[in-house]
Amino acid sequence: MLINSDMMDFSVYPKRFELDDGIEVFVRPMRPDDRDRLFAFFRHLPHKDRRFFKHDVSQREVITNWCENLDYDRVLPILAILKEEDGRERVVADATLHTERHGWSTHVAEVRLTIHKMFRRKGLGKIMLREIYDRAMMRGVAKVQAMVRADNEGAIKLLRRLGFRKEAIFRKHAMDINGRKHDVVIFFNDVGALWKKMEDLNIDYDFFVMP
Ligand SMILES: CC(C)(COP(=O)(O)OP(=O)(O)OC[C@H]1O[C@@H](n2cnc3c(N)ncnc32)[C@H](O)[C@@H]1OP(=O)(O)O)[C@@H](O)C(=O)NCCC(=O)NCCS
Repeated sequence: MLINSDMMDFSVYPKRFELDDGIEVFVRPMRPDDRDRLFAFFRHLPHKDRRFFKHDVSQREVITNWCENLDYDRVLPILAILKEEDGRERVVADATLHTERHGWSTHVAEVRLTIHKMFRRKGLGKIMLREIYDRAMMRGVAKVQAMVRADNEGAIKLLRRLGFRKEAIFRKHAMDINGRKHDVVIFFNDVGALWKKMEDLNIDYDFFVMP
């Protein structure tokens, strides 16, 4: 098990947030003992959401492998947790920040985000994306990318609200269950520029309000 990141302060977790409907959730990095919780989360996702993952998350081995080989410097998974009345924890959102350690894109990170169906449209997507974005800033990432299907209006609206801009379109890049191909849009957010602006203005990132 390799959990690492010298550059980041993890003592701030778990962080408590209130969703738009008043429900309380806790946000923290994924731990090795999250395996069953994460598996249950993916199992309850709509089939159409699962189809666009790069990995087959219906396979327990896939999740086991993630949990046993956590390496925050390569992939930082942040979870939103709901605490049940009996004390059990339930995963309601999963966001990941993917970075390259070598090569020409070490300054670029990719974000992936999934919210439990019952917890959508309550502001959780915004919370998770902000959290990932803050972590990217701390890591010194200059550019955060997100890939979404061109017809995923909800995700596109969310990304735009948080300052992401369209960078490229991959034509017919995603295939649905009927074999139909869909365009995929690459969005990006220029963390470097934002970081520099805050440094120039001497603003603490914790108090920065995204556009
Ligand atoms: C896309 C997704 C992450 C949005 O998460 P969410 O928690 O519902 O988002 P929020 O509640 O924070 O919504 C923030 C804003 O995004 C926009 N938005 C989110 N979902 C939307 C939808 N289905 N239709 C239209 N706008 C939507 C709205 O502007 C919303 O603000 P509002 O509710 O005040 O109008 C979620 O639907 C999801 O997990 N989808 C499946 C996976 C996916 O598409 N991932 C790609 C993410 S980059």
